[in-house]
Amino acid sequence: MSEIKNIAVLTSGGDAPGMNAAIRAVIRAGIYHGINMYGVRRGYSGLVTGEIIPMDAKSVANIIQRGGTILKTARCDEFRTVEGRKKAYENIKKLNIQALVVIGGDGTFTGADKFIQEFDIPIIGIPGTIDNDLAGTDFTIGYDTAINTVVDAVDKIRDTAESHDRLFVIEVMGRDSGLIALRSGISTGAEAVLIPELTVDYHAIMTRLDKSRANKSSRIVIVAEGDNEGGLVVGEKIKENFPHYDVRVSILGHIQRGGKPSCMDRVLASRLGVAAVEGLLEGRRGEMAGIIAGEIAFTPFSKAIKHINEVNTNLTRIVEILSL
Ligand code: F6P
Repeated sequence: MSEIKNIAVLTSGGDAPGMNAAIRAVIRAGIYHGINMYGVRRGYSGLVTGEIIPMDAKSVANIIQRGGTILKTARCDEFRTVEGRKKAYENIKKLNIQALVVIGGDGTFTGADKFIQEFDIPIIGIPGTIDNDLAGTDFTIGYDTAINTVVDAVDKIRDTAESHDRLFVIEVMGRDSGLIALRSGISTGAEAVLIPELTVDYHAIMTRLDKSRANKSSRIVIVAEGDNEGGLVVGEKIKENFPHYDVRVSILGHIQRGGKPSCMDRVLASRLGVAAVEGLLEGRRGEMAGIIAGEIAFTPFSKAIKHINEVNTNLTRIVEILSL
């Protein structure tokens, strides 16, 4: 029997579609197992300032389909300090909260790891970020919705590119990771995808694009924001060196973080929310709940936060082969 009777959940870092579905799953799984459940507002900031509220099954009704996070989120500088974390600990002590579920990305788990080391509080993480840049899970919550948003936007831009015979450079999010760029590039038939994990050779790329000039009137070049140069610079370079293209640059920005979560993100969030609570009750701590090859898997925070720098070269090859 677990000693844990009170659990709080928070969302931290960038919001991601499906975070609400994860909050709902955590709260309801806790209640199902007889636990008193709490929500922390504004991520770690709310722990530091004591914005912690009791939550019941009804408080998470009708949110599975909503984007953003009802608990709000923040990137909290104070929690990066020992003093901040001490205040946070005092606040959860006051309410006798014995364990936490934190939903977020690498920054969230780095903070959680420090908190565990200093105050010995059980914490389980749930991967919630559009970037899909965590080890220990095939997909993070929000990634599927975000890439579908990108695909929808790029399809629309393609209509203009095709009508005007233009080359569009489209910058997508992903921080240091090219995974949003790569997958959305394949599914929109992009002619080239530039990602931070691989060095860019413009001449090779543009020469390849030029070869297929007879076959095509439009070109889409997807650039991951973490690429050394970003969309604007890439656009300028193409204009300078290949003046025969009519170039436009489009930066998709935060549209990628919003909107209704996809079915895949809702199911992923629901599975991981239940797994996180049950993991805590089984005595797990300091781990992220993820899904690998269809099965729930727990990975220590220290491993989960290691960025995956290895690119699946099968995917980059596919872009090249199919852009003839
Ligand atoms: O981590 C999610 C993400 O959207 C990244 O893709 C992006 O680099 C970053 O957050 C933007 O953060 P902010 O909304 O704080 O500017």
